[in-house]
Amino acid sequence: MMDELEQDIDKAAEMLRQAKAVVALTGAGVSAESGVPTFRGKEGLWEKFDPSTLEIGNFMKNPLRTWQVLRALFEGSLGQVRPNAAHEFLARLETQGKLLGIVTQNIDGLHQKAGSRVVHEFHGSMEWLVAPRSGHRYLAKDFDLGQLPPICPKSGEALKPDFVFFGEAIPAAAIRGAQELLTRADLLLVVGTAGVVWPASELPRLAKLGGARIIEINPESAMTRELGINDLWLRGPAGELCARLSEKLWP
Ligand code: OAD
Repeated sequence: MMDELEQDIDKAAEMLRQAKAVVALTGAGVSAESGVPTFRGKEGLWEKFDPSTLEIGNFMKNPLRTWQVLRALFEGSLGQVRPNAAHEFLARLETQGKLLGIVTQNIDGLHQKAGSRVVHEFHGSMEWLVAPRSGHRYLAKDFDLGQLPPICPKSGEALKPDFVFFGEAIPAAAIRGAQELLTRADLLLVVGTAGVVWPASELPRLAKLGGARIIEINPESAMTRELGINDLWLRGPAGELCARLSEKLWP
């Protein structure tokens, strides 16, 4: 007899076959099986680091202190990680013309490494450093983080990673891109997000208002279920379940 999860995977595969405009909203959990730590939960970053280090006001007051924490992020697992089956599954859906694009809260660049092309980085990315006042931008890989904080050669300011700190606005282009995708979606895949950080947490509702069906993949909780807008919850790790979905869709 088929277990409940197997039946749900079959249902999800059928919903994907029927869909013509899939959009994915992803969070830290999509990269968990690549070895990237999530923020919340037992092994989460917020257990090790004080989230206030990533407040923009604290960075401006003491960039060195923030960078001492950030160096661990840049030089630790985040620098070397590889995409997993979930990133690859979403990239393949796009190649096949099914998926319009991805809205991600992640800064790890793994969707792009897997081959996804339309990726709106709602919280920015680790790839760039930016001078907060003058706006000059540089590729992070060109800076030696042995000397902290990295300094803008043009303005002399301490450079900040170009991801969104607490207290900063979401990049306008990412908001526009996300809205444009979500209003066109007929199926939204919500993968690996706790859904507690605003305004990303509002995005599934936008898709639902536009008539999209919603599948959420998460081993522990389902934010869209709590909102009462969920059509299916695949309860399990994204990499493993996406590998199983791939087998169903492309045997
Ligand atoms: P969280 O760390 O808050 O949540 C991660 C979610 O992934 C949880 O719901 C886990 O249950 C789930 N999860 C864990 N392992 C998984 C797996 N193998 N497959 C699928 N899901 C899994 O991460 P986000 O929701 O992305 O913002 O956090 C949102 C924002 O909070 C981040 O972008 C960051 C942080 O503050 C900024 O830095 C601006």
